[in-house]
Amino acid sequence: MNNRVLVTGGAGYIGSHTTVELINAGYEVIVVDNLSNSDRSSLEGIRKITGVEPKFIEADCCDKEAMRKVFQEHEFNSVIHFAAYKAVGESVAEPAKYYRNNILSFVTILELMTEFGRKNVLFSSSATVYGDADVLPVTEHTPRKPATSPYGNTKQMAEDILRDMVAANQNLAGIALRYFNPIGAHPSALIGELPRGVPNNLVPYITQTAAGIRECLSIFGDDYDTPDGSCLRDYIDVVDLARAHVVAVERMVSGGSKQRYEIFNIGTGRPVSVFELVRGFEQANDLKLNYKVAPRRAGDVTAVWADTTLANQELGWRAERELLDTLRAAWEWEKHVRQ
Ligand code: UFG
Repeated sequence: MNNRVLVTGGAGYIGSHTTVELINAGYEVIVVDNLSNSDRSSLEGIRKITGVEPKFIEADCCDKEAMRKVFQEHEFNSVIHFAAYKAVGESVAEPAKYYRNNILSFVTILELMTEFGRKNVLFSSSATVYGDADVLPVTEHTPRKPATSPYGNTKQMAEDILRDMVAANQNLAGIALRYFNPIGAHPSALIGELPRGVPNNLVPYITQTAAGIRECLSIFGDDYDTPDGSCLRDYIDVVDLARAHVVAVERMVSGGSKQRYEIFNIGTGRPVSVFELVRGFEQANDLKLNYKVAPRRAGDVTAVWADTTLANQELGWRAERELLDTLRAAWEWEKHVRQ
């Protein structure tokens, strides 16, 4: 039971990479995904990379009866809950959709874990909980700022729900990983991000611009109070991020946690500006990107990057991949998708 993990949203971007790393680490993975923002092809990619096809169940985590069946039919002690919507702008336009999907699905999973006596849960949180932080880099003790979007609010609410459920249930342990900016793709180029429509995030926009699908990248603001005027973020390679999930599961399975509810920042600890990222992409892939400076984007914070001391010390995890390698992988993946 301890070597089996239920991965909700396992066909998605971070879920598929984590499934690969779990399989590589010897875990048996059961993927649940409703394919609302992912594709079956990622399961094929996982199989090609690992030689193992994870068990796949097409279901919506908000559907309690369907999920109860998953719990009845499969024995696992750990759940990694990725399944959620993630578009900030859409969440502002359609808040109910976000609260329903992101909160109801998580509560459903937690209720079933309690009902079936399952022990460990890992939640995908986000650096968005820090908002415009007063002191940088942010540690896990940095106060959260009021969320500026329903999406961000679902992350804060879900963290609190997890904390309260763990407090109320002696058998449950929880870890929330606060991701900074996940980018890149598996070096095999067999799995990666598949944004639907016009990408909101920087790296998919860059790769689609390089591929000629978008005409020109807009750099949102060059007048921020930063060294080159563009925003600073902490870009974490998705494979490094996936590995963080494996060590977090191992910590819970082995009972190595100090408290039953823990939070870890998962980033590189290094701020990178938008201009630096664009230059890095050009250098890594030996091409020129069409870009222009545009006005600031509403809701963007000037800078946020992680203090990763806690993850380094407690999980024994650190980001290893070089930024240029990550940007090369992002481009290889884009080319693979366009083939
Ligand atoms: N950017 C551009 N042009 C683009 C897209 C982004 O200049 O076309 C800039 C943004 O202004 C920002 C940086 O690139 O400075 C990174 O933007 P992303 O959209 O890639 O990432 P964010 O930091 O805005 O988003 C992250 C997470 C979200 C989270 C959000 C909250 O990806 O999940 O932080 O702030 F909600």
